[in-house]
Amino acid sequence: MDVFQIEGPVRLSGDVEVNGSKNASLPIMAAALLAPGRSTLLGIPQLADISVFKELIEQLGCQVQRQSDGLLTIDATTIDNPVGPYDIVRKMRASICILGPLLARCGRVEVSMPGGCAIGDRPIDLHLTGLRRLGAQVHLKNGYVIAEAPQGLKGASIFLGGPFGSTVLGTANVMMAAALAKGRTIIESAACEPEVADLANCLNAMGARITGIGAPRLVIDGVNHLHPVQYRVIPDRIEAGTFMAAAAITGGQVHITHCRLDDMMAVVDRLQNIGVTVEPNGDGCTVVGAERLVPADITTQPYPGFPTDLQAQLMAVLALADGNSVVIEKIFPDRFMHVAELNRMAANLRKEGPAVIVAGVKKLIAAPVMASDLRASAALVLAGLAAEGVTTVNRVYHIDRGYERIEERLNRLGAKITREEGGTV
Ligand code: EPZ
Repeated sequence: MDVFQIEGPVRLSGDVEVNGSKNASLPIMAAALLAPGRSTLLGIPQLADISVFKELIEQLGCQVQRQSDGLLTIDATTIDNPVGPYDIVRKMRASICILGPLLARCGRVEVSMPGGCAIGDRPIDLHLTGLRRLGAQVHLKNGYVIAEAPQGLKGASIFLGGPFGSTVLGTANVMMAAALAKGRTIIESAACEPEVADLANCLNAMGARITGIGAPRLVIDGVNHLHPVQYRVIPDRIEAGTFMAAAAITGGQVHITHCRLDDMMAVVDRLQNIGVTVEPNGDGCTVVGAERLVPADITTQPYPGFPTDLQAQLMAVLALADGNSVVIEKIFPDRFMHVAELNRMAANLRKEGPAVIVAGVKKLIAAPVMASDLRASAALVLAGLAAEGVTTVNRVYHIDRGYERIEERLNRLGAKITREEGGTV
């Protein structure tokens, strides 16, 4: 297992380009299963999660090819094995988003229940409720979801809100299934994340009829078939936000390109409250860190609220603010694996239920730390950039799941990160 050795403190400066969105790429790769023929997807990042999903789609019977940089083709002419096996799904929860397209395309699908992960329980009850409302028979057997609709699916009105708000991949699954259902489907309390809107736009490019894109009420008029597509995914707003946080925590100045600021208003709002300058610049922005970071409160919410996927990274920034901040996690209340590790670096964080009290400190001190999940790992890397000394981040495979060659791109901005084999298992 690789480790990162991160020498700090550094002050980042220079230009960095954001890759295509991981969380748009995964459901859009699944959407290609809806159409016999070969779809071409552009801007797909080279990530471990994408490789796992490619493996999953191939074992369904499809041909998947990585062409040049960011280009990926999926030939879904033949799907002879609509099964998502445990040994693949357990590696990547988002595999669950093959459920809707395979049910609609094949009339039957078996997918292993995803199980939990480091950020907490990952239930799929809302996914299954939505598919049942479309007329599927759904039952659980030996840890697998089995969904059948031999007579096809029928449009329905579906409320998809749960105790933590909407569901991103649940909306994706139901929307993809409804695209080939007979009649009209209304999804109330649909997720409004830009990645869900990107999926809807891709489906419409395949011949679907979806309106209300980006709003909590989606209307899908089913069609008889969809055709293959050439489609470019949107930029990754979470990767963009991570680079913004890197500029903030190091007091640097970074020009971030291929970044849709319009998708990131809640993030920009918090950074500006912390004293960080975020100025639009070309197809992205220039972020300038502040000498004195101002404490600020952050509460994660469904889009357009502050994204849970940037909670850990902004907590690392607030750890160096000049005063106390409160971070409340309302989407995944256990998503605080980074707290104990940041405290090992002399942060002063205290967990109080779904909240963390962040008492700002003057400096962080390098230490050996353990990555636990994708975004917590990113927070530890950011802390290492600012900490005094050499921070060792173990288990960086977590970060490779969602960030392409992150150490190379940060080093081009002035970081001093080396990737080494071995480290604590
Ligand atoms: C997506 O996960 C993202 N993953 C996550 O990003 C992100 O954190 C999450 O949305 C929230 O924005 C991908 O898009 C691949 P949810 P998803 O269903 O769809 C509860 C990353 O770091 N819920 O929107 O699985 C659930 O427990 C990853 O890139 C139910 O109760 O998340 C959670 O509390 C991590 N029942 C809340 O809803 C359900 O059936 C939001 O979950 C489904 C979800």
